[in-house]
Amino acid sequence: MKFNNFPIGIFDSGLGGLTVFKEIRKILPYEDLIYFGDTARVPYGNKSKNTIMRYSNEIFEFLINKRVKIVIVACNTSSSLALDSLRERAIVPVFGVIGPGAKKAVRVFSGKNIAVIGTSATIKSKAYSNAINREIEHLNGDKGYINHTFKIIEQACPLFVPLVEEDFSNEEIIRNIISYYLNPIVSKKPSCIVLGCTHYPILKNFISEAMGMNVEIIDSGIETAKVVKCYLGENGMLKDRKEMGSESFFVSDGTRRLKDLGEKFLGIDIRIEDIHVVEDVSLQEVQI
Ligand code: DGL
Repeated sequence: MKFNNFPIGIFDSGLGGLTVFKEIRKILPYEDLIYFGDTARVPYGNKSKNTIMRYSNEIFEFLINKRVKIVIVACNTSSSLALDSLRERAIVPVFGVIGPGAKKAVRVFSGKNIAVIGTSATIKSKAYSNAINREIEHLNGDKGYINHTFKIIEQACPLFVPLVEEDFSNEEIIRNIISYYLNPIVSKKPSCIVLGCTHYPILKNFISEAMGMNVEIIDSGIETAKVVKCYLGENGMLKDRKEMGSESFFVSDGTRRLKDLGEKFLGIDIRIEDIHVVEDVSLQEVQI
């Protein structure tokens, strides 16, 4: 098979990366997609850098063994802490979600503060503020037309991922948790808020309600999908057969939840026979 007809590998700590998967599928309908959700070990956001790097590396190897043509790290936590080391040894292009989200934040920038929310590990890594500052430096060149009087407000929201993974549905409690984390940001009047975790688009309506209408919500998944499409097009890596792409899903635990939550939150129709369980340590497929 020609390299450009190989599948695209996408991974996340759990189900959140399906928000990226959905955006990829929307704009690249012919591509074959392989998704890995590390559902046995989610969340990554409260783990150490070494552990996140090890987990990310194992999944990366798994996808490479599936002969993917590119890997999308559809997890902000892995993108913050493991992307550079994955790229160093990678034999295929590797895309993270931080750069595209940061770029978009700078593009919609109106001189006001920029808010970023994510897992504790992502926020602690400062990956977003570094990427936003880099982007501003790059745009500024020697012209200096963006001044630095604005602030990048970063807030970890550790309870958001469990709300999604547990399919928690009590709206009053969800609103209270969201306000608890977002109220301090609202008072700083940002122009936009970057959803720096792939689980958060599922809570988008609640986040938008808490932030108010004038605050633009930036979904890194949407931005990443555009970057990937552009890269594949420019490098002659788009699949040449114009037929609907295949989809396979791998999880390290529990097939049913991926199907149910994927359908419920994202309207993705996942066939149970397309979901495979992989043991988390050896990452070998097991019979279910
Ligand atoms: N969805 C992931 C992210 O984008 C990680 C959530 C977690 O495992 O804590 O950061």
